Amino acid sequence: MAIRTILLCFILVSSSVVFAKPPTSDGSSSRGKSNSTTGSPGVHIIANPDDYFLNGDLELFANEDASETVTIPSGTQWYQAPDVEKLRDELNAGMYSGAEKEEKEKILFGYDIMTKTYEVLGPNRTDGRPALYTGQIMNCSACHAQGGTVPHSWPLTRTYSHFRLRANLDAPPQDGEGEFYGPLGYWRDTITVNRDCGINCAGQGEIPKDSYEMDALVAWTKAVQEGIYPGEGILIPELKLKSNNTKIPGARIPIFEKVLNDPEFKADPKAGKVAYDRTCASCHGKDGLGKWSEKSGYTVPPVAGGGSHTKAGGPYMVPVLAAFIQRQMPLSQPGSLTEQEAIDIAAYLSDMPRDSRWWEDYYYDHNPCKRSAFLSLDVGVTPVGFPFSDADTRYGPWQPIKEWLANECPNIEGNEPSEPILPEDFDAGFDGADFINPGIYALPRN
Ligand code: HEC
Ligand code: HEC
Repeated sequence: MAIRTILLCFILVSSSVVFAKPPTSDGSSSRGKSNSTTGSPGVHIIANPDDYFLNGDLELFANEDASETVTIPSGTQWYQAPDVEKLRDELNAGMYSGAEKEEKEKILFGYDIMTKTYEVLGPNRTDGRPALYTGQIMNCSACHAQGGTVPHSWPLTRTYSHFRLRANLDAPPQDGEGEFYGPLGYWRDTITVNRDCGINCAGQGEIPKDSYEMDALVAWTKAVQEGIYPGEGILIPELKLKSNNTKIPGARIPIFEKVLNDPEFKADPKAGKVAYDRTCASCHGKDGLGKWSEKSGYTVPPVAGGGSHTKAGGPYMVPVLAAFIQRQMPLSQPGSLTEQEAIDIAAYLSDMPRDSRWWEDYYYDHNPCKRSAFLSLDVGVTPVGFPFSDADTRYGPWQPIKEWLANECPNIEGNEPSEPILPEDFDAGFDGADFINPGIYALPRN
């Protein structure tokens, strides 16, 4: 049975230790760079250069079977972002031809998809191909800053080696390909994570898995790790082993320690509104709808409404969004919010109107053991047998939920591969054809 139609923005979040320095307040002075030729207009999250150097010794596995280790000394540069503008200049100057030119063009287009999503895929698209989006869509890089090269901004630095590409999506995966995604019961690879996040995180639309656009995204995702020119991408070869994936500095944004371990720590959306209005509304708007320009799309991305992530996107989970907010926002002063302020604001944002997806209630595996339910995604129902209310899973405290899961679901970390259990009529309405985006279906809140 085809399982290609199941969609969800990637939600696994690691609480593992990271090694990069958090953004410093003086890092903020380098923000606010206007970037009108290369990215979307407006200001953007940029990397703190220090984050590309190890700030402690890093012990890594020396091989994929994790039998030997190697220690990389503190201060080593582990990453160099690809020089996309050099590539753009070289392509404009006609330096490449044939297959090499096509490959380089794909990388550049993949980067442009991430950083100028509406401009290059929307109705104003200029390359002669059909638009993929008609509605308002934010840039992927509003979250995956600078095309996914900024640590602690949901980067793509681990994506290619972690998910890889599956040779055959309808056959069981070969060794090391993809990752089994328990909540929806299917295998994800580099293509499907790109597609699913596009649908659930960035607005309304789909980048089809067999398309020029997807080839370009995959080429870029690979370039984030491998670089375009020598001396770029991940510079420590061991960091590209799947066994070391969790050790790429800032590859994930750790959830606050308190979420996991403090039985009192919870979010207060009312306090969040006050903090949001004071700290965030000047840019994102009181209504959270961001700033939109018909020509170039969002100059400030939305945090609510149809252009924002859906209730199936990872940022809908309050602790996940809070970790991003605390690291990266407000744009001019990242790191200035307390954890309490960040979690309160994230809770307030989760209460703002946003879309659901038609399939959520229907297809989601409601077994709480198959997802970290203390990181609730709103699927319209609280899982059967789950002793926590919807409000508890959304606003915390999450520590008791974590405890409960640890007792009831010994395999919670396992995400064990199993046969996906899909309804009999799963493919009904698709005519056996490829996925047709059925649009959005707003579920009532419970
Ligand atoms: C100075 C303007 C500014 C302020 C103030 C600001 N932001 Fe942002 N925010 C941005 C911009 C611009 C981006 C996109 C960054 C990029 O493109 O690199 C962004 C991105 C985001 C994102 C990810 C993309 C999305 O829309 O979901 C979230 C979430 C977010 N901001 C939340 C907040 C919160 C919460 C606050 C208050 C604590 C805040 N921001 C304050 C300008 C701002
Ligand atoms: C509103 C924020 C947001 C936007 C916009 C967004 N994403 Fe994501 N994306 C996320 C989050 C959160 C994750 C999960 C990250 C994690 O678990 O560490 C994610 C995960 C991913 C991953 C998997 C990364 C990994 O290694 O786990 C890919 C690939 C991806 N997104 C591609 C895209 C593309 C392509 C777009 C634009 C079409 C996009 N995203 C837009 C928030 C966003």
